[in-house]
Parts: sequence; C-alpha cells; structure tokens
Amino acid sequence: MSLRLPRVIGHRGAKAYAPENTLESIHTAADLGIKWVELDVKLTKDDVPIIFHDDTLERTTNGSGPVAEMLYDDLKHLEAGSWYADSFAGVKIPTLEEALDVIYARDLGFNMEIKPCPGREKETAEVALDLLAASWDAHEQLLISSFSHVSLEVACDMAGDWARGLLLEKEMPENLSDLVEFFTPKTINFDAETEASAVEMLLDFELPLLCYTVNDPMLARRLVNLGVDGFFSDCPDVIKENLPRMH
Ligand code: G3P
Ligand code: MG
Repeated sequence: MSLRLPRVIGHRGAKAYAPENTLESIHTAADLGIKWVELDVKLTKDDVPIIFHDDTLERTTNGSGPVAEMLYDDLKHLEAGSWYADSFAGVKIPTLEEALDVIYARDLGFNMEIKPCPGREKETAEVALDLLAASWDAHEQLLISSFSHVSLEVACDMAGDWARGLLLEKEMPENLSDLVEFFTPKTINFDAETEASAVEMLLDFELPLLCYTVNDPMLARRLVNLGVDGFFSDCPDVIKENLPRMH
C-alpha cells in the first residue's frame, strides 16, 4: 500500500479560519480545496474518542478542568466555537465518529494524531484505532501519528499495515535510528523549529518529511529547498498556493 500524501495538510482542520478540531474546521479545509486534515484524538473519562488538542478545557471551550476527568455527557454541550468568534457560537467538541462522517462526506485524507491525556496512552490508541478499523477503507489516505511511543506501538500491534508517522519534538531523540527501525514509519513529522542540521540528518532516512506547523510561505519554500516534502498548516491554502510548482 503506498501512501498518497498531499503537499499540505490542514492543521486541526484549518485552524486559521475556524475553531480548531471542530467539524466546521474540517469543512473549512475541504472548502479551501485541501485534500487532507490532521486532527488530535483523545478520550473522555468514559472512553469516548473526541477531537481535542489540550489536556484541559479552558483554552478552547467554555468549560474547565482536565478532559480525562470528564464524561462525554459533561462535554457534549460545551461551547467550542464562541471563544474563537461569535459567528461560531454553538459549535461543539466533535467525537471521532462525527469527524469521520465529515471526512468521508468530503472525501478527505486523514492524519489521525493520537494525543492521549497523560496515563491514557494505550487505551486512547486502542479505542481510536478500533473505531477507524470499523469504517476506513482508503489506506493510501490515512496516516496514524503520535508523540506517544506507547500509542504508536499499539498502532503497530493493532494495525501493522496502516501507515504511521513518527512525530518528533524539536529536540531530536538520541535513539532516533532505533525509533525508525522499531516503528517503521512511512513519514517523519517534525517541528518547524528543528535546527537545519537536524533536518538534514532526517533526510538520511529517505522517508517523506512533513513539517508542522508552517504558516509562512517563505519558510515553506526554504524547507522545500532543503528537501522537505509536505507541511501541516493552519492556513493550508496560503501554503499550497505559494509552494514552487512540481516538475
Ligand atoms: O501532528 C502535527 C502537529 O499537530 C503536532 O503538534 O501540538 O499541534 O498537535 P500539535
Ligand atoms: Mg496535532
């Protein structure tokens, strides 16, 4: 199975134009002509997989407290849009299932970033992958990634044939070669603040390199010249329009 990666992936949907990790954000990315979205998945206390970035509710909802201590029933009525703009009032935190419905309806590719609350690394991967396995067919359009090595190992065990992205922080791990050998990723997803010398080292793995989060077209062009293949962007339309044409 070969992965059909785009050059630009909408980060948390299209975070620059709609509240991140919401159905509206996914629709916005699709409306902009973007072919893939990246979304963060974590679990509620009662094991419902939801699309949400932070471990706590304050920044992107009108709720408060740790997500890991909330039942889905406590979360489902929260406002997840009005903090962003009044025009998004009424927007809710989506479940993974609801997000998948939109992804299918809009024929998008999907980078599912497993973003477990602390201590929930294994269960989050298990529940999210189980749900995906029940409905996802287009494996050339699916990439599973996580900063959590526990979550990524679950992906290896449960869905060994699905493409994995090794997600790196800006400091390179000392055992990077071991990680690549162990997880056999199809992509390496790295931080835009990574030192150029480290990016050059990543090139040696001869895997597609995806850089997060790039909103500046000049930076994207510089990284393309270094050998970077694709970008996660909050404004994916801007990056896409300004990349050099492929020959
Ligand atoms: O998956 C790429 C990127 O989303 C990783 O960082 O914090 O935005 O989830 P973060
Ligand atoms: Mg993410």
